[in-house]
Amino acid sequence: MKPKLRLGVNIDHVATIRNARGGVYPDPVRAAKLAAAAGADGITAHLREDRRHIRDEDIQRINSEVDKPLNFEMAATAEMLDIALKHKPHAACIVPEKREEQTTEGGLDAIGGHNHLKPFIRQLADAGIRVSLFIEPDPIQLDAAVSLGAPVVELHTGRYAELEGVEQDTEFARIEAAAAHAETIGLECHAGHGLTFDNVAPVAAITSVVELNIGHFLIGEAIFSGLDSAIRRMRSLMDKARADAEGARSA
Ligand code: PXP
Repeated sequence: MKPKLRLGVNIDHVATIRNARGGVYPDPVRAAKLAAAAGADGITAHLREDRRHIRDEDIQRINSEVDKPLNFEMAATAEMLDIALKHKPHAACIVPEKREEQTTEGGLDAIGGHNHLKPFIRQLADAGIRVSLFIEPDPIQLDAAVSLGAPVVELHTGRYAELEGVEQDTEFARIEAAAAHAETIGLECHAGHGLTFDNVAPVAAITSVVELNIGHFLIGEAIFSGLDSAIRRMRSLMDKARADAEGARSA
């Protein structure tokens, strides 16, 4: 049997709420510790260029105070590379970043960005950091990740999350095919963006996906049911979908 599907909890939006008032409350590091206790396998945090949510000291504290691996989301800039090399998180996920966007819109262009990305990936990997590329579920982007030497890809599920009906089915088929392709070409496959209680099960059922990164919905849901309960429910939906898929495959 394959290892259990991992859940990375993205705590960026705890910092968004903190920053709305300035000061120190609510503390994203407290959320990270709570997430770890509730069943998160890792903590994900995106240090954006404009520091609109997570700040430098949050990264330092999550890395040193939380007993779970940190997945550091970063743009491919010299500033972020320096920060990653200083803290040496377990993993770094390279994302595209546009100042005016509300959230990470679209995946990284691993083909067009080849020459720019290559030295970043090499330096992160040389420092022992596991590099992933946040890309669209497109086989040519996956092939480009291999040629860049990235061991991991995270498939962008944002479009799948936004669409409905047949269009959503079509996008889901793209994700499923990309995950299978990732496995064939030796990439570890993660997925994330826009996942909720309602749409997580089909993605969790793709057995070549080994990790989901989920943030905004969990932090929003925490307002109503608490973070512990939101994470436990997500965990159990993921685990059930994966167990059912594995059961169906072995039947
Ligand atoms: N994965 C990546 C690479 C992301 O940039 C984000 C958003 O920061 C997520 C996952 C989580 O997305 P969401 O907050 O919509 O769950």
